[in-house]
Amino acid sequence: MNILLTGGAGFIGSHTIIELDKAGHDVVVVDNLCNSNPEALRRVAKIIGKEVPFVEADVRDRAAMEQIFTDNKIDAVIHFAGLKAVGESVSKPLEYYENNMNATFVLLDVMRKHGCKNLIFSSSATVYGDPAIIPITEDCPKGHCTNPYGQTKSMLEEVLIDVQKADKEWNIVLLRYFNPIGAHPSGTMGENPNGIPNNLMPYITQTAVGIRKELGVFGNDYDTHDGTGVRDYIHVCDLAAGHVAALKAIDRKCGLAIYNLGTGHGYSVLDVVNAFMKVNGVNVPYVIKPRRPGDIATCYCDPAKAKAELGWEAQYGIEEMCRDSWNWQKNNPKGY
Ligand code: NAD
Ligand code: UD1
Repeated sequence: MNILLTGGAGFIGSHTIIELDKAGHDVVVVDNLCNSNPEALRRVAKIIGKEVPFVEADVRDRAAMEQIFTDNKIDAVIHFAGLKAVGESVSKPLEYYENNMNATFVLLDVMRKHGCKNLIFSSSATVYGDPAIIPITEDCPKGHCTNPYGQTKSMLEEVLIDVQKADKEWNIVLLRYFNPIGAHPSGTMGENPNGIPNNLMPYITQTAVGIRKELGVFGNDYDTHDGTGVRDYIHVCDLAAGHVAALKAIDRKCGLAIYNLGTGHGYSVLDVVNAFMKVNGVNVPYVIKPRRPGDIATCYCDPAKAKAELGWEAQYGIEEMCRDSWNWQKNNPKGY
């Protein structure tokens, strides 16, 4: 298939290009580079041995999107483009709502005009809020999102459900990612956060490499095995492969389908820190800090539906996630 990746220069998109290429698909990337570096696409090109067709444009730019669909016969779109920093979304809600909602509205309108009605959407476990059941199945009711970023994911899911309900020609797959970490095993590609990382793994790797003095562990009084927050960390290459598998749902004309993409295993903050130190033989100094507002105790999924219906399951464990995250950081201490 010929797949358009919006936001394809970003962390998950760039890794997904590699998996799509392996599976024999062609890609076109559109990205405005607001949170990514074109060097990521050059690194992808080295790995797959060919240039990645790339259009530098904003998905909200209707004329640019029209041009992409006129120039290319697109079979399906994977819509990664969006702003994703939770803390920033609280201080800049309008920017987040405007970018994430409008980019999706323009994309959907241009797609239907060009008769392309196959879409995979990057959603998040954040839509479950404080989950009603653990492990979280796709039937778990959605919960209250504590920040505008999460709200955009939840609202866009509703928009996409309504669009598909109104026009059965659409095939829409909502992929709810758990916590993507890790990096390409080559050590040449990985996560490249701007400024001080919000997420755990980039904070760990930047501490290990000496950019940050120590990791703050946000709370050790949760109702978990060691008191620190438990999450379902998933290797970004596994997550990328999940998108290739999701194309199978599109192929069999799924209508609307929702899948959790996680490993089904929960690791605490201290489990991750200890695994990282052990696997890589490096020290990660840390201090216990107060809880971070909006955080929940435990979040991990039941990935059985993706396995049964897409034949997909995560291959990598926490050791490989820690190894590859470190390999990327130590080879590229300043990112791309
Ligand atoms: P990322 O920031 O690395 O990639 C997103 C890309 O979208 C960036 O390259 C950015 O430049 C681009 N972009 C943003 N707005 C755009 C616009 N209007 N037009 C064109 N390009 C635009 O993020 P990521 O980690 O690769 O995440 C990809 C998607 O997955 C996002 O939608 C994110 O919300 C979602 N997601 C990510 C995580 C995670 O932990 N990384 C978890 C759940 C869901
Ligand atoms: C966060 C977002 C979520 C988003 C996801 C991926 C919140 C409330 N949720 O999830 O919407 O989809 O990132 O981008 O922000 N931790 C520390 N110290 C740190 C950083 C994190 O102890 O410096 C802890 C957190 O308290 C949590 C765990 O590590 O228990 C994972 O945190 P993080 O990587 O930020 O992911 P989530 O909070 O699960």
